[in-house]
Amino acid sequence: MPGHQSDIPSEPAKSAVLHAEGITKAYGSLLACSDVDFDLRAGEVHALLGENGAGKSTLMKILYGLVRPDRGTVSVHGQPIRLRSPRDAKAAGIGMVSQHFELVDNLTVCENVALGIGWWRSSRLSRLASELADFSSRHSLEVSPHARVRDLPIGLQQRVEIVKALFGGAEILIMDEPTAVLSPVEWTGLQQVIRSLVNDGKSIVFTDHKLHEALAVADRCTVLRRGRKIGTVDASDADEKTIARMMVGRDVSLLSRNTPNTPGDAVLELRSVSTASALHDANLDDVSFSVHRGEVFGVAGVEGNGQSTLADVLTGLVVLTEGEVLHYASPETSVPGDEKRSATGLIPADRHAIGSAVDRSLRDNLMYRDFAAAPLSKRGWLQFGAIDQHCMRLCERFDIRAPGMHAAFSDLSGGNQQKAVIAREMHNSPELLVAVHPTRGLDVGAIEFVYEVIRTFRDAGGAVALISEELDEILALSDRFVVLFKGRPSEVIRPDEADFTDIGLKMTGASA
Ligand SMILES: Nc1ncnc2c1ncn2[C@@H]1O[C@H](COP(=O)(O)OP(=O)(O)O)[C@@H](O)[C@H]1O
Ligand SMILES: [Mg+2]
Repeated sequence: MPGHQSDIPSEPAKSAVLHAEGITKAYGSLLACSDVDFDLRAGEVHALLGENGAGKSTLMKILYGLVRPDRGTVSVHGQPIRLRSPRDAKAAGIGMVSQHFELVDNLTVCENVALGIGWWRSSRLSRLASELADFSSRHSLEVSPHARVRDLPIGLQQRVEIVKALFGGAEILIMDEPTAVLSPVEWTGLQQVIRSLVNDGKSIVFTDHKLHEALAVADRCTVLRRGRKIGTVDASDADEKTIARMMVGRDVSLLSRNTPNTPGDAVLELRSVSTASALHDANLDDVSFSVHRGEVFGVAGVEGNGQSTLADVLTGLVVLTEGEVLHYASPETSVPGDEKRSATGLIPADRHAIGSAVDRSLRDNLMYRDFAAAPLSKRGWLQFGAIDQHCMRLCERFDIRAPGMHAAFSDLSGGNQQKAVIAREMHNSPELLVAVHPTRGLDVGAIEFVYEVIRTFRDAGGAVALISEELDEILALSDRFVVLFKGRPSEVIRPDEADFTDIGLKMTGASA
């Protein structure tokens, strides 16, 4: 296979089903896409990669007629087409599965598909149902035509969207972050579906936050950075590192494992903890583990298996029905009457609902933990000079980029919001850090920063309880971890002894 890196393809590959050239789209002064060329070959899976805000969704929306470019042309099978709306895209054989599904919940799969195609086919539902059943079994979609959409798990609803697009005549399928809503097992299933469709002659372009996922299924990858195309590479020649470098513009080191640690005393211990009042998650069932100084203790698992209940337990938000949670703060750092809080930093799962006051300024958000004590206040009066200095120091140390201290928190990018939460929680080195999905929704550059903070903290003797759905994250950061399934933990696993398949099975309860 030719290993060339075609920065600017001089002419479209002969077999390109879709060719876009010079695509430019500005929003005010921001160039979401700047002179982007893109081509999709027949029967290929093409990943579109880039950090948050790189322009991936914009390019896809342009290809599907949802957004009109300022400049640029799109052709299908060598014929220039006009894309004024998705109707034009569909007529040209382009279909899209967006991040948010557009299905009618209380109709069946078959009825939903019927809505997306011409009346002459939809008027014969029973025939359509048998076509659907055939198609589903041919591509191992496991979608039953008569199932009601609302009864299907998200992973299958996504497949209904795929089927809908294909039955609507799509030869080219555009998928914007299809894996964002999937569990690891569902992702394996989708991979098989994608390969099967491509073998059938379809061409697929998709975006993904996780590079290993993209590389696992893509034939080629195109990387965008700040609206510009950086290059297109064959997936077989690329690895995560090269792609990450293209995305960010410098080397990134996400996956390097921790250096060996020398754990100290336990800082946190759970003894046979069970709960009964979790609302949207499994209750914990006899959970015991301890987190020591100088270690990251990971808790892996798929959403709904007790991870958020555990986070609530660690932060004291849930009443235990059995067992106990013990915090061992060292005497010199404990503050009478407020021991746990001063000893624990929290990166909550939802940085908007819990981690911050989004309507307030960056400065307010940075000082919430510390404003009541000197030097930020004296005898009950806030010392604004000291507060500004404190906040400026935090911005510098934690690389928070904002227009100013008084910028609304909600105007910061996700990465900078998370850095601000981390700065507030970590600047005075708590003994225990509880980090819940600390990199959710962040792009590679910001993820790298968060990893760095956690590793530095642990190397300096801090104890970290890391709750994450990202298995990669657990493997890269933790010294020991457990997998939660239906509220019960697996035995303790060390990442260097971990078997990926076995962990995947544990996450789904296939082996307990
Ligand atoms: N409708 C819009 N109005 C203003 N700015 C937009 C709009 N859509 C996207 N943008 C901006 O364009 C840039 C690219 O966004 P997007 O294509 O969504 O990136 P990606 O999908 O790679 O994360 C971002 O800076 C984003 O804020
Ligand atoms: Mg996007």
